[in-house]
Amino acid sequence: MTHLHTELCDIVGIKHPILQGGMGPYKTEHLAIAVANAGALGIISCIGMAATLLPEAAPIDARRLFGTDPPAVILQKSIENVTKKTRYSGGVFGVNVPVAAEFTLASKMFIEQTIESCKSDSDTERSLRVVVTSAGNPKPWSVLKDEGFIWVHVTPSVYHAKKAEAAGADVVVASGHEGGAHVSWDPVHSMVLVPAVARAVKTPVVGAGGFCDGATLAAALCMGAVGVQMGTRFIATKESDFEPMWKQAILSREERQTLVGRGLFGPMRFLRNKRAEEIVIQTLEDLPKFYLGEPLDSNEKILELEQTGFDNLLDAKEETALMFGGEVVGRIQDLPTTAELIDSIIHEAAEVLRSVPKFVINK
Ligand SMILES: Cc1cc2nc3c(=O)[nH]c(=O)nc-3n(C[C@H](O)[C@H](O)[C@H](O)COP(=O)(O)O)c2cc1C
Repeated sequence: MTHLHTELCDIVGIKHPILQGGMGPYKTEHLAIAVANAGALGIISCIGMAATLLPEAAPIDARRLFGTDPPAVILQKSIENVTKKTRYSGGVFGVNVPVAAEFTLASKMFIEQTIESCKSDSDTERSLRVVVTSAGNPKPWSVLKDEGFIWVHVTPSVYHAKKAEAAGADVVVASGHEGGAHVSWDPVHSMVLVPAVARAVKTPVVGAGGFCDGATLAAALCMGAVGVQMGTRFIATKESDFEPMWKQAILSREERQTLVGRGLFGPMRFLRNKRAEEIVIQTLEDLPKFYLGEPLDSNEKILELEQTGFDNLLDAKEETALMFGGEVVGRIQDLPTTAELIDSIIHEAAEVLRSVPKFVINK
């Protein structure tokens, strides 16, 4: 097996410089197990966050998606299961906690549960090494380092990356606009963002948005990153927890078949279907309000489109289901196991890095 060792491997304690992106509000428990066992970083996503705060307006039928346990209990059980199923491989995993201002109480609750889970089980303490915060101000969360976690923070711009560095994050993820689900309104893609962030901060940088294979991992390294974070590519794997219809939808889309509209946590990139088009039309109507920062719960039309979009996902109604994905869908044509995927990415990246000098003609 080829190895591609970067600083990220040493910081996090993983074999391969690949992070699985958090993908709330969906469960990524089986995916996290498979990714961690394959030597990359598996991530448990925090689910039910919105449901904790917007009970009457929640656009998700939380019970239908997650069962009746409270969100902290769901997280605790996921951590226990991932610990148990990664014990023999020595796999490493983490938890993603979005820290948007409107969810501060829920973020605190998820972080407290993560700390508690580590304190109460020595195997968890050993394998749950990372907390990835995203979608908000990093400053209040430096406590994660005092608790002994490797702290990764996701940012959409040089400005936010500098803030994460100033707050003390161990790793900064530079998340480009082509990525699935959470994006910024400002359309700065990985090709510009990753090298810009890598030059602006001394903290190690991981590229996210558009990465899916060895060529793109090699490109990230060439742009100054120490690894990649992938979301959409990991959905389309055998072990991932996502609905079969969603996996198939990723395989069938081309690179132009995603759309950005207002989602539950801010702007989101959807796989293009009738429901995504309806959300975009509604977003365009309400764009001035969103730019002015008005909360989503004041927009009943989008809430309604999302609520029924989640239901339609569970009912396998493809055209009206809400499904997220990055532009990279256009480059995904197979459904491998996570181990096959990670092996092929590392193998190809090493091959590409070896072959690049051949393209240079010395005159
Ligand atoms: C379905 C889906 C849900 C996501 N939810 C979250 C989330 O809860 N928190 C987060 O930090 N990022 C979230 N993301 C972003 C991913 O963690 C990752 O950064 C992104 O998918 C990378 O771009 P890619 O899709 O091109 O690989 C989500 C992405 C997808 C596709």
